Amino acid sequence: MENKLYLYPGLIRIWHLLNALLIITLIISGLSMQYSDPLNPFIRFDLAVSMHNVAGFVLLFDYMLFIIGNTISKNSRHYRIQLNGLTERLMLQFRYYTYGVFKREPAPFPVTKKMKFNPIQQVTYFMTMFILIPLLFLTGLPMLFSGAFIRQLLGAKAFFVTDIFHITIGFLLSIFLVIHVYFCTFGAKPTSNFKSIITGYHEGGH
Ligand code: HEM
Repeated sequence: MENKLYLYPGLIRIWHLLNALLIITLIISGLSMQYSDPLNPFIRFDLAVSMHNVAGFVLLFDYMLFIIGNTISKNSRHYRIQLNGLTERLMLQFRYYTYGVFKREPAPFPVTKKMKFNPIQQVTYFMTMFILIPLLFLTGLPMLFSGAFIRQLLGAKAFFVTDIFHITIGFLLSIFLVIHVYFCTFGAKPTSNFKSIITGYHEGGH
């Protein structure tokens, strides 16, 4: 594979595909539970609850796949953030995303085998995978398994606060998803990065 870098190991690709499908299922079922008219729901309420619970539970196993994939391959090195000069690097990448890319300037941080993420990707992927997703489980699992327990022990307010946190994290993840998919179109061709996360091979650009 000349001119192509193998960047996405098999386990990471399987994790990512499942992860994308599950998060989309969680967003749709979550929104339906929260906003639908009870008399005319987008997805029948009990069905939306089951979809949300099952998808959330499978996501936990998928997250373990991500951790295992990163542990047994060298993929985790891409998530190690160099704090030295980080602000300047983030600003450079931000300028590129908001200006340079439209002027066809070369990317300030071209993709290499050693570092496949630009600084913005590195920080957002790190925060998503190591802060937001764990927080999603930390707020979702207690509500799933011990909602009644939380209510009895700490009162209805504690359940409400956990729920608000859970919904806020879900909202942040939804924003991440929209921006993530948009930035993924900045490859050599708009479809290049989407092919990469399926085949594992990266083609130029970004
Ligand atoms: C429709 C859904 C999605 C699409 C089409 C999509 C697309 C892509 C593409 C094309 C890449 C490879 C290019 C790159 O690294 O920028 C990628 C990587 C990545 N995506 Fe997504 N994504 C989706 C959903 C998600 C979600 C829901 C998350 C997390 C909550 C996520 C997290 C990541 C991470 C962490 C990587 C880097 C993986 C690695 O190489 O270690 N993606 N995604």
